[in-house]
Amino acid sequence: KRAPTLRNLLTLADVSVEGLQRLLTSAAEINRITPTKIRALVPPAPMDNWLNKKAIALLFSKRSTRTRVAAEVAIRRMGGSPVFLAPDDIQLGVNESLADTAQVLNQLVQAIFARVGPHSDIEALAANTTIPVINALSDLWHPTQVLADLLTIADSAARFNANASSTEQQISLGKKHLPPLTVAWVGDSTNVLHDMLVSFPRLGLKMRVATPKGYGTPEPIMARIRELGCADSIVFTHDPQEAVHGANVVATDTWISMGQEDEKAARLEAFKGYQVTEALCQAGGAEPNWQFLHCLPRKAEEVDDAVFYGPRSLVFREAHNRLPTIQAVFAAIFRPEYGVAKPHYE
Ligand code: CP
Ligand code: NVA
Repeated sequence: KRAPTLRNLLTLADVSVEGLQRLLTSAAEINRITPTKIRALVPPAPMDNWLNKKAIALLFSKRSTRTRVAAEVAIRRMGGSPVFLAPDDIQLGVNESLADTAQVLNQLVQAIFARVGPHSDIEALAANTTIPVINALSDLWHPTQVLADLLTIADSAARFNANASSTEQQISLGKKHLPPLTVAWVGDSTNVLHDMLVSFPRLGLKMRVATPKGYGTPEPIMARIRELGCADSIVFTHDPQEAVHGANVVATDTWISMGQEDEKAARLEAFKGYQVTEALCQAGGAEPNWQFLHCLPRKAEEVDDAVFYGPRSLVFREAHNRLPTIQAVFAAIFRPEYGVAKPHYE
């Protein structure tokens, strides 16, 4: 059976459960076969030339550490050439429209990995090209981040259940569903949360979400949640303690996303009481071995140092997992017929 080709990746809402499972299985396999340190004598991995000199534009209109580095390293590891295009270096936005830029890139590169402001910009890129377009973050969605979050939950299964062996962890990745865990979100309804809301429930995870009044999930995202049948697995509240009740994972993001800098004072006021701490999770009744996720970059207002740097924190594993998950996305786009791992869902 030939695996379906991934053309664009604008949000995980567009990816089937089977597709999500395949991406996660591939990413776990990439982690397994990639040595932690690249040494001179390591034999070439099968995926080393999968991009076969393909050029991929990294069109970034906002800052990035993890997404940019993971994408550049992923493309180089797979034998392709990343072409990083920062806003000050190119004609876009000054001398040239987005539609014209898209059509020009369509002639010169084989895919576009783009970080944009309004989500409509990435839709415009996709509408004006025939090459694959991957969302490296927009104001509404951050799909590649949430693939890394899913992989982190899956490959940390032993942290949630002390009795799970590493074999059981691997098996849990190959099943349709992840372990039936509850993920709490305490904070802003950001692009990261939105991709969790349309993917986690479809993989068997429950979600409990606390946002301050006036900072809830926008209606277009709620519509996608309902359309995908995810609504019954999600509890929305304005009470952080209620959100963390029974949680195995507690996640958050910055309260001031890129582009919202002018709202800083109002947001710091509105989010008072939303900092993730041991005290909050204990008072709310999180599971005793709850684990912490954050996409980074992190500010101390949304999570204190004790949690962020403490033994519950999976944040640096999560950052590590940006690389194999982005490699898995490129593999699904350019070499779907091979896959990296045997897709267990078949
Ligand atoms: N998590 C994330 O997307 O980080 P960057 O903004 O550094 O890419
Ligand atoms: N919500 C954040 C995520 C950063 C990776 C932002 O959009 O700035």
